[in-house]
Amino acid sequence: MRTPLIAGNWKMNGSRAQARAWAQAALAAAPDRGAEVALFPPYPWLTEVAAILDAPRGRVRLGAQACSGEREGAFTGAVSAGMLHDAGCSLCLCGHSERRALFGEDDAAVAASLRRALEADLVPVLCVGESLAEREAGRTLEVVVHQLRSGLEALRSPQDELILAYEPVWAIGTGRAASPAEAAEVHAALRGEVGRREPDRGRAIRILYGGSVKPDNIEGFLRVEDVDGALVGGAALDPVAFARLVQAATRLARPAP
Ligand code: PGA
Repeated sequence: MRTPLIAGNWKMNGSRAQARAWAQAALAAAPDRGAEVALFPPYPWLTEVAAILDAPRGRVRLGAQACSGEREGAFTGAVSAGMLHDAGCSLCLCGHSERRALFGEDDAAVAASLRRALEADLVPVLCVGESLAEREAGRTLEVVVHQLRSGLEALRSPQDELILAYEPVWAIGTGRAASPAEAAEVHAALRGEVGRREPDRGRAIRILYGGSVKPDNIEGFLRVEDVDGALVGGAALDPVAFARLVQAATRLARPAP
């Protein structure tokens, strides 16, 4: 049984006061069981949000939006996985498409950050996704499986936990989500690829869908067998909408067999 995860990525949004309010609202919305909730605030608010969530012990998990592929040293502006762990994080996004496209993170940089996250006891959330041009050229599965493989190489042992997020680049922040059928095809391919290497991990790994997830479309995704939750940007900045996403995931959580 895979517990669905609703993860709110605030990106570079929100004042300190809003961060506090959104964290309190997420805490109030999070169920004791059924579904899991995680927040990914901007770096400056991490410790304050950690205090509100009682992270990493509390029921809402705290994550970082990215971490450096370096351990420490002269890397002005960068933040290490160890610092994020100290700040209360237990998760870290690796390879979000905005990091790949706007900050020049290639597969090697993403794999390095994933390795650092694992070393610091953070669970990496590896993000993969194709551009519109790649989809239209029929290259979706090739692109996402390539990104996945490069991330899987960074795992050290079967004990290293990993979460995946399939986020088609053309669906992020555009209001144009993938269809549940499109997500189903990619999620099945990702799970199949993981399972070919490590059958246990293939069954257990959580694969989130991301890209214009809203309260009125989340159910379609959650009903897909291989979708285990959502990585949410825009709707995570609206506490009422975010709470509705959490409620949907809790309601649709599949009972343990
Ligand atoms: P969106 O962002 O929900 O605003 O499309 C998703 C993401 O980038 O994780």
